[in-house]
Amino acid sequence: MASSGEQWWRDAVIYQVYPRSWADSNGDGIGDLPGITARLPHLADLGVDAIWLSPFYTSPQHDAGYDVADYRDVDPVFGDLAAFDRLAARAHELGLRVIVDIVPNHSSDEHPWFVEALASPAGSPERARYIFRDGRDGGTQAPNNWQSLFGGPAWTRVNEPDGKPGQWYLHLFDTTQPDFDWTNPEVRTELEDVLRFWLDRGVDGFRIDVAHGLVKADGLPDADLSHDRHADATALAPMWDQPGVHEIYRSWRRLTDSYATEGEDADRILCAEAWVLPAEALAKYVREDELHQSFNFEYLMTPWLAADQRATITHSLAQAEAVGAPQTWVLSNHDVVRHATRLGYPQTPGLQKIEGIGADDPQPDAELGLRRARAATAVMLALPGSAYLFQGEELGLPEATQLPDEARQDPTFARTNGTSVGRDGCRVPIPWEGGVPSYGFGPGDESWLPQPVEYGLLAADRQRHEPDSTLTLYQDLLRLRRELRLGRGALTWLDGFGDDVLAFRVESAKGAVIVLANLGSGEVPLPDGKTVLAGSLPRHHGAFVRTDETVWLRP
Ligand code: NOJ
Ligand code: CA
Repeated sequence: MASSGEQWWRDAVIYQVYPRSWADSNGDGIGDLPGITARLPHLADLGVDAIWLSPFYTSPQHDAGYDVADYRDVDPVFGDLAAFDRLAARAHELGLRVIVDIVPNHSSDEHPWFVEALASPAGSPERARYIFRDGRDGGTQAPNNWQSLFGGPAWTRVNEPDGKPGQWYLHLFDTTQPDFDWTNPEVRTELEDVLRFWLDRGVDGFRIDVAHGLVKADGLPDADLSHDRHADATALAPMWDQPGVHEIYRSWRRLTDSYATEGEDADRILCAEAWVLPAEALAKYVREDELHQSFNFEYLMTPWLAADQRATITHSLAQAEAVGAPQTWVLSNHDVVRHATRLGYPQTPGLQKIEGIGADDPQPDAELGLRRARAATAVMLALPGSAYLFQGEELGLPEATQLPDEARQDPTFARTNGTSVGRDGCRVPIPWEGGVPSYGFGPGDESWLPQPVEYGLLAADRQRHEPDSTLTLYQDLLRLRRELRLGRGALTWLDGFGDDVLAFRVESAKGAVIVLANLGSGEVPLPDGKTVLAGSLPRHHGAFVRTDETVWLRP
């Protein structure tokens, strides 16, 4: 059975819950599954279609759960399998689908397979599940020059069972995250079995961690280190976007398709986290027999400049369309600086930096950032395709840019000796209620990262039913998007509004909208006789679109 019914994912809006930081039920300062279940009505009210949960599996939490020790169980810090089942059941009751994270590139070093590998000799089948190699120069130097994305070398030397220094193992991320060897059929079988485990539990899909990293170039050749992983390098690097990954996803797609029920809109979906450029290369991941979605990170990194936005949107749509896939828009997630903060810096042509911000770095213009973030979201939610939201962006939360060093937990901070502050700033626990301890994140005042004071003012309860709040804006946009079925629409650019304005019409079988986003410095007159359906700035009285404002008009 291939995919069936309406293919709900083609225009779905999917909300990312980062379990550590969404809602804490027991007051230990770390979010958990019962906390999520209790807060799900917030998402039904918001009007999203699905949630994606970052990892909640058994893990020593060296990379906040992206280091999995048991793929088939829940870490006690988050709950247990019964708590997951209750979460999924409640979500489904509320009409929300549930997507979980699969981490197939690497496991935790506490995974039983890696423990066995260390206890077994070089050349053993236990070692062959990971990438162990002898070092260069008589074993003393790493097998190649690859660097960990979190800083430092991507290889660590082990002590052999006899206690002497021996082979090296590859870890593209932290030392505690050894990479699997995907040329080993045992790895393929095991990870497919993990997919089945969660599909049988009723999940609606998977977000695939580091989807472009599973296969490494034959012979593990040295990399050209002058390239940046987020820029134009992926096609050249021996660890990214190797052709062999596509066969893995064809097999996964056959698996998820076998779970679709004929005549029902019940597709189980696969979404790639693949930092791959250009858009042509990324589109390969969403060919008809591969994945359903792949995050458009090029869009996320595109500056708030009209020419850049227009170019990225145009070629992104064209590349996805060429393979019959929808685009997957995204502006924020748990690895990048929140867009309300990113956009509070001067915008320059070319892809923008997404790395964390520390107290010693230049600070953003918070008001400008939020104003532009609201405008950018109002553009994104009108675009054809699906969109992912990151928890807290509906509250307009800024990045926490002043976290004290001793609070930082992202391994990047330690591995780079603080040169790179890491990603904790976007992971700060959510404020639900202003004026109470931990802003309602949990029952007490514990919060695994300290919450900035301005989070109190932005708490969900302060924004609910407030006509001008960011939360109300998101609700309005999501409602209109659904009514007009904009995610299924077609986009046409409109002329006559000047170079600094993104002007387009999106039309579906259910209706149409004209979107005007003013990225210039002067006011732009609204066309005569059109009703404003929504606007990214409070109270749109005038006959103008203001700087950094987006309006939706009835054509
Ligand atoms: C991407 C995840 O989004 C990130 O949080 C994690 O650190 C790396 N993959 C490694 O799993
Ligand atoms: Ca907890």
